[in-house]
Amino acid sequence: MRRPAAVPLLLLLCFGSQGAKAATACGRPRMLNRMVGGQDAQEGEWPWQVSIQRNGSHFCGGSLIAEQWVLTAAHCFPNTSETSLYQVLLGARQLVQPGPHAMYARVRRVESNPLYQGMASSADVALVELEAPVPFTNYILPVCLPDPSVIFETGMNCWVTGWGSPSEEDLLPKPWILQKLTVPIIDTPKCNLLYSKDTEFGYQPKTIKNDMLCAGFEEGKKDACKGDSGGPLVCLVGQSWLQAGVISWGEGCARQNRPGVYIRVTAHHNWIHRIIPKLQFQPARSGSQKRDPRGQEPLEQSSAPSLPAHTILLVLPALLLHL
Ligand SMILES: *[C@@H]1O[C@H](CO)[C@@H](O)[C@H](O)[C@H]1NC(C)=O
Ligand SMILES: *[C@@H]1O[C@H](CO)[C@@H](O)[C@H](O)[C@H]1NC(C)=O
Repeated sequence: MRRPAAVPLLLLLCFGSQGAKAATACGRPRMLNRMVGGQDAQEGEWPWQVSIQRNGSHFCGGSLIAEQWVLTAAHCFPNTSETSLYQVLLGARQLVQPGPHAMYARVRRVESNPLYQGMASSADVALVELEAPVPFTNYILPVCLPDPSVIFETGMNCWVTGWGSPSEEDLLPKPWILQKLTVPIIDTPKCNLLYSKDTEFGYQPKTIKNDMLCAGFEEGKKDACKGDSGGPLVCLVGQSWLQAGVISWGEGCARQNRPGVYIRVTAHHNWIHRIIPKLQFQPARSGSQKRDPRGQEPLEQSSAPSLPAHTILLVLPALLLHL
């Protein structure tokens, strides 16, 4: 699913400006029928996954984080002014015939993180504002963005999704069905060690920066690859899917000692909050954690959405009790 050499390859908002009826809570797929080494995804399994297209061709993944916002990678947009060339496809499982649940949205603007400095550098995140809010359906739903208090533990099994290449050599065969792959989180010291290995084979050592997160396998074989860039790495925390990372880069795809590298969504919380002040961020354990997420700050300006926020805190424990 990623790209060649140092390949560039994203997070979100849980509730749109309309606040959050329980029915539009982030990170909760409604369809419960539910990459390199990946498997076909099911219809509605990853309802936040989007395909970002240029002149009708898929070039990057992304995730819906609010009704009008998509999180993706900065390296997907060498020129953020060309908004008229871009389209975002939502609610699709396959790209050849996206089907009745899918819709295209036009792009109003692209905000790349100003700290991004090119391939394999920090801050490889961008926010895409859609021309109009999209209606949430069983197939189009936002993922949750984690509050900075959320820690994705080493070894935790998360999922990466995309329409990228199934290997460095091949393209995904038609009809281009969304692929899913489970990958464990690798801690940064270990990942730095892996990326410093095999320099005798001509690899340049690469540094895993503070805002990066590694996930995948030391032995390679399974990974994101070209075309997956900008797509989400999501982890199930409690009852909700939180976006831990944005697919950013790797050295080749699924090579030994070269796990996938993602941009940590929590590291860019302030930047995201500045661009989308109303976005709410999910604390580590809904309901059980009393720390006030920063995402609630905007509620002071507008009291209307505060009721839904509290509703979520109350509803989640209720759901947990039914497990
Ligand atoms: C867009 O695609 C059409 C048809 O595939 C092609 O003829 C055209 O040159 C493309 N335009 C750009 C700007 O790439
Ligand atoms: C970016 O795209 C805009 C609109 O098409 C164009 O005017 C501008 O020259 C482009 N900038 C670069 C650096 O290519």
